[in-house]
Amino acid sequence: MHHIPVLLNEVLQVLDPKAKNKIIDATFGYGGHSEAILKKNSKCYITAIDRDPTVKQKAEELKNTYKNHFNFISGKFSDVINNLSERYDKVLFDFGVSSMQLDNAERGFSFSKEAKLDMRMSCDGLSAYDVVNDYSEKDLSEIIFRYGDEPNARKIAKAIVNSRHINTIKTTTDLRNIIVDVFGFEKIHKSHSNVDVATKTFQAIRIFVNDELREISTALHALPNILNDNAIIITITFHALEDRVVKYWATNNSNFTLLPPGVVQPSYSEIKSNPRSRSAKLRGYSYKQKNA
Ligand SMILES: C[S@@+](CC[C@H](N)C(=O)[O-])C[C@H]1O[C@@H](n2cnc3c(N)ncnc32)[C@H](O)[C@@H]1O
Repeated sequence: MHHIPVLLNEVLQVLDPKAKNKIIDATFGYGGHSEAILKKNSKCYITAIDRDPTVKQKAEELKNTYKNHFNFISGKFSDVINNLSERYDKVLFDFGVSSMQLDNAERGFSFSKEAKLDMRMSCDGLSAYDVVNDYSEKDLSEIIFRYGDEPNARKIAKAIVNSRHINTIKTTTDLRNIIVDVFGFEKIHKSHSNVDVATKTFQAIRIFVNDELREISTALHALPNILNDNAIIITITFHALEDRVVKYWATNNSNFTLLPPGVVQPSYSEIKSNPRSRSAKLRGYSYKQKNA
């Protein structure tokens, strides 16, 4: 699938890249935002981060084109930000999974593509397969409820455990079929929002596997150590749980101020051309060092 960076014009407007600006793209993905920033001003310096090793080829392309104005660090943004020694002027976070991760069946993120359950952004460590086949019913229920806001979490956890007593749950389709059985055939078609019944459970397991909420919170709290005064931060969130982490951080860190106009959402025409942007929320913050 063709990759379209979310809220691109708005990102460029808020970030306003200037010559010599040092910018972090903490969620490089397919480099859509990084590339557009460098096209707008090739005299800024971008340090891009991603934990997904499959994005390295795209990072190499940008490195070849923009030379020392672009560099890429492979790893979790919480770790990388904690270890940076320089200070930066602008930071972009475009949270969540990328279209490439969702659309590549082998990555096992999507219930609409049959594949071995995986969901690891870093292709390493604990996978969705391990969680679904090894975790206790209580733990599964908690994960599905906490990270999926799924009211049927208990029933789904019970069905997963019953099912794996008979056969290992190997694929995305195996897991979706178990969830469909919990809801019953009727409900899929009657669902008022047209959202698949497996959406919340898949989201929950993905967030847990990648420890996504703790990653966001740790990285945001580490920012003051690497920011210049008057730095600009952009967060793009895609669901209420990410929103909650960002809002909690902002409320409890008085040196970050939400920039006008506040929360920015995609236009109707962006949602039409890129349906995955529909739940995106952009927030820009300015940073003032305390006692500065
Ligand atoms: C929504 S995509 C970013 C798309 C990108 N802005 C573009 O225009 O191509 C999110 C990316 O962030 C990466 N990511 C998510 N959480 C991360 C983390 N904690 N550390 C490093 N990378 C992370 C994912 O692997 C994914 O490639």
